[in-house]
Amino acid sequence: MTNRRKMIAGNWKMNGTHKLVATMVNTLAENTTDQADIVLFPPYVYLSDMIHQAKNTSIAVGAQNCAVHLQGAYTGEVSATMLEEMGCRYVIVGHSERRALYGETNELVAQKVAAVMSCQLTPVLCIGETAAQREAGETMTVLQDQLAVVLNRSEGTTILSKMVIAYEPVWAIGTGKTATPELAQETHSQIRQFLAQYSPVIAEQVILLYGGSVKADNAAALSSMPDIDGFLVGGASLDPTQFLLICQAAIKGR
Ligand code: PGA
Repeated sequence: MTNRRKMIAGNWKMNGTHKLVATMVNTLAENTTDQADIVLFPPYVYLSDMIHQAKNTSIAVGAQNCAVHLQGAYTGEVSATMLEEMGCRYVIVGHSERRALYGETNELVAQKVAAVMSCQLTPVLCIGETAAQREAGETMTVLQDQLAVVLNRSEGTTILSKMVIAYEPVWAIGTGKTATPELAQETHSQIRQFLAQYSPVIAEQVILLYGGSVKADNAAALSSMPDIDGFLVGGASLDPTQFLLICQAAIKGR
């Protein structure tokens, strides 16, 4: 029986308002305890407000991205150092939208993970295959490549011990097509087996989130699976009632 802690992460993407920051934090704070790690990822401009609102609650706050550099002449970028200073605890790295829309490569993602870890922040590394890659039977090769570039360094085992991994099949993100609990479990289990090559002990401890059209009505079945430790939720994390139900389902599951 595993003792991995559950984590439910809400990725607002480029959505939200100041009003939603307050409503979301209040709804979660009033209706959850610290039984699981609940982390909200609003756009940069709402981070300060959200960190302030979430003070004295067990809700943590993270950023959706960060620069690969820690400071310098990089107009428009935000560094992990700044995120740490303002009170963030997590950073999403390698989300499929950033890989697809902004050309983030596995190598760049690995450098961002290193930048995040140098600032004592926890990276939430997103990995996932496209529909075409799954149909071609390439799912595990794609996922292993995405992981290996991050972990094949001298400090790879330390990195593994300090990061969270989110498996998000690209075909399930924002499409309403959730992976079945069985398919998600099978892939999570294969990911954990791959991670065991770095350290069997740490592989058992790594938090593996599932993401891709997670909703209040599919969260319970997914979270009953032995290798699913929580969720990275996009669209449904913008609705306080629905996100709360997902958190409650995840906490109850397994
Ligand atoms: P979705 O997004 O829940 O809207 O599918 C998930 C994500 O992109 O993290």
